[in-house]
Amino acid sequence: MANATGNEMLDDALRRLSDARDETELQNWHRDVLGRKGSVSEASRSLGKLAPEDRRQLGQQLNALKGQLESAFQARQAEVQTDLLEARLMIESIDVTLPGLRPTVGSLHPISAMMREASDIFAHLGFQTIEGPEVELATYSFDMLNIPKDHPARDVWDTIFIQTDTQEITLRPHTSPMQIRTMLQQEPPVRVVVPGRTYRYEAQDATHEWHFHQIEGLAVDTNITMADLRGTLAEFARQMFGSERKVRFRCDYFPFVEPGVDMSIDCPFCNSRGCRICKGSGWIEILGAGMVHPNVLSNVGYDPEVYSGWAFGMGIERLVMLKFNVQDMRDFYRNDLRFLAQFDRARL
Ligand code: PHE
Repeated sequence: MANATGNEMLDDALRRLSDARDETELQNWHRDVLGRKGSVSEASRSLGKLAPEDRRQLGQQLNALKGQLESAFQARQAEVQTDLLEARLMIESIDVTLPGLRPTVGSLHPISAMMREASDIFAHLGFQTIEGPEVELATYSFDMLNIPKDHPARDVWDTIFIQTDTQEITLRPHTSPMQIRTMLQQEPPVRVVVPGRTYRYEAQDATHEWHFHQIEGLAVDTNITMADLRGTLAEFARQMFGSERKVRFRCDYFPFVEPGVDMSIDCPFCNSRGCRICKGSGWIEILGAGMVHPNVLSNVGYDPEVYSGWAFGMGIERLVMLKFNVQDMRDFYRNDLRFLAQFDRARL
């Protein structure tokens, strides 16, 4: 093998080595150049045909070439590994100085949040929270609540009837049927609140929805008086609307209570001076209540001579509207996130 050929072989091999960009290409090169059937081994094998002096000289040259190629291979291998590592670090690098991405999390609807808040206040006053069916027998929605069929008071509730043939079935127009269900199920003492959906056949406007929410309350025991009703509901109003709130009770009529009352709070928007929200009166009505009617107690098998109780019913939408000065009830059900997100405590 002439020197020129040796140099050519070296140059060619080194050029191809510098083209190898990964481990597979490197190994292919190694096999082709330095492997058992590679070009260097082939050249060694052809030495046999040469004259002895030439053989020695060329053999030495070949060995030197082999050594050179071997170290060039190792150097290139190290280089390729560094390049690959660097490329990987580039791709996988994390810029810790970038601002974080805030994950979008949902939050409670203001109506759900208010049902929980109201139930929580009553829980601390000794009331258990329960729920009941929205599709309700007319017997529980009306009859057993002392509102017999054809009683004019039924009209007050603008009820949606969903079945009228065998047994009258309603979408409950108030949460009061849960008074009946609760008392049929357990003996006194009873202290429960019932948050939930209610339905009425009504035209919609800023303060009316055909679908809305109430929270019902019921306390029955021996020696329960109007003073308990007053104390409990006044405490609720203070916890919900501020410790300085005053409450006012007036006579009202509901067939299932006697006497019946409604409760107002002094207007938190104008401190009772009179404004648009309290319609100049200084007071805002928030609930209906009263002493459970003896007929209702009898209907569920409670002895009205032994037990007495009181009940209340309150609109949840109205509470949120008052607390956050929401003008239009329909906003709660438009599903506009810009409106709903304002009630997200986590973000406030
Ligand atoms: N159920 C009545 C209503 O929907 C409210 C109420 C409940 C009144 C309990 C008195 C006692 O208007």
